[in-house]
Amino acid sequence: REQRQKSLFEVMELATTYFEQNLASRGGAQARGYLSDRAIAPSSIVEFRIGYATADRFALKEYLGSKGVPVEDMIEAGLLIAGDDIPVPYDRFRDRVMIPIHDQRGRVVGFGGRALRQDVQPKYLNSPETSIFHKGSIVFNFHRARQPAHEANSVVAVEGYMDAIAVYQAGIKAVVATMGTAFTEEQIATLWRLSPEPVVCFDSDRAGIAAAYRSIDRILPLLRVGKTFRFVFMDEQKDPDDLIREKGVEAFRSVLSGSLPLWDVLWQRETDGQDVRTPDRQAALEQKLYALVRTIQDPAVNTAFFRTSRMQLANLFWQVNRGPTR
Ligand code: CTP
Ligand code: MN
Ligand code: MN
Ligand code: MN
Ligand code: MN
Repeated sequence: REQRQKSLFEVMELATTYFEQNLASRGGAQARGYLSDRAIAPSSIVEFRIGYATADRFALKEYLGSKGVPVEDMIEAGLLIAGDDIPVPYDRFRDRVMIPIHDQRGRVVGFGGRALRQDVQPKYLNSPETSIFHKGSIVFNFHRARQPAHEANSVVAVEGYMDAIAVYQAGIKAVVATMGTAFTEEQIATLWRLSPEPVVCFDSDRAGIAAAYRSIDRILPLLRVGKTFRFVFMDEQKDPDDLIREKGVEAFRSVLSGSLPLWDVLWQRETDGQDVRTPDRQAALEQKLYALVRTIQDPAVNTAFFRTSRMQLANLFWQVNRGPTR
């Protein structure tokens, strides 16, 4: 099994090199055009090892075969589509810009494949779970962000591959991407290895806000003294990549400087637009907030969150109770 896993890393490495070569070759012209339209610099293509999977159904399979990789290993690496109803396994990734996903030690363990055109679904095709690729325990760009994050004592967590690449390319190297879902426990622990207070910067669309809110519920039980998160939301359906391209990195830095502590986002989420003019509604809000705070395992953090909850609730209810009730 040890031997097999070693070979899967080698298979992924071979595939990465192959995709890189495709991008640099004549057949990669359209993909290079796509990347240059997105303002991805040639130096970033090299550093991130971005590549291209051609439209051919058997291109990678044949290449890896020529390198002596057994078809079973290609399947186990998630590079082929295979199954009982598929007589001849074929390349999973076709006509896509290939973004290698590395583990914490810097080994390629998966890929995100970006469609070149708007009408192709899905927009991103990712490697399936394999024995070396566990999406839930990986944050994209961790191995490059580690040193910069330690130096800056901070890290930014964005949603998308292209966001991380754009932010990194713009000089903010302490950046990772969560790849578009709510945090897992493992991702939270991983982010805390980079900084005691990572700044989460998600898209302002529904998916981004929902992911940030769900992340808060996952973080609460894990909070410890000196380990927390900040949150910031992008304006106008833009993401960090869009913003940097349109307004420059200073605009993004300015967005980051408006980040809010986890508590503020939790409070806003629970109280925004809530009618708490009557005691029974106040009771409902209080119960809901306390139920969330109760999930905090750390005793000191738990106590402080309860105290803050009580004080802010009292303050809120005091204000509304002074006004007329209908
Ligand atoms: N994602 C995914 N599969 C999809 C859509 C999204 O895995 N079908 C993940 C990707 O990691 C993506 C992230 O969620 O980078 C954020 O999604 P989204 O905001 O929709 O994409 P962008 O990163 O903004 O993609 P792009 O700028 O290339 O359009
Ligand atoms: Mn593993
Ligand atoms: Mn989005
Ligand atoms: Mn984007
Ligand atoms: Mn986005």
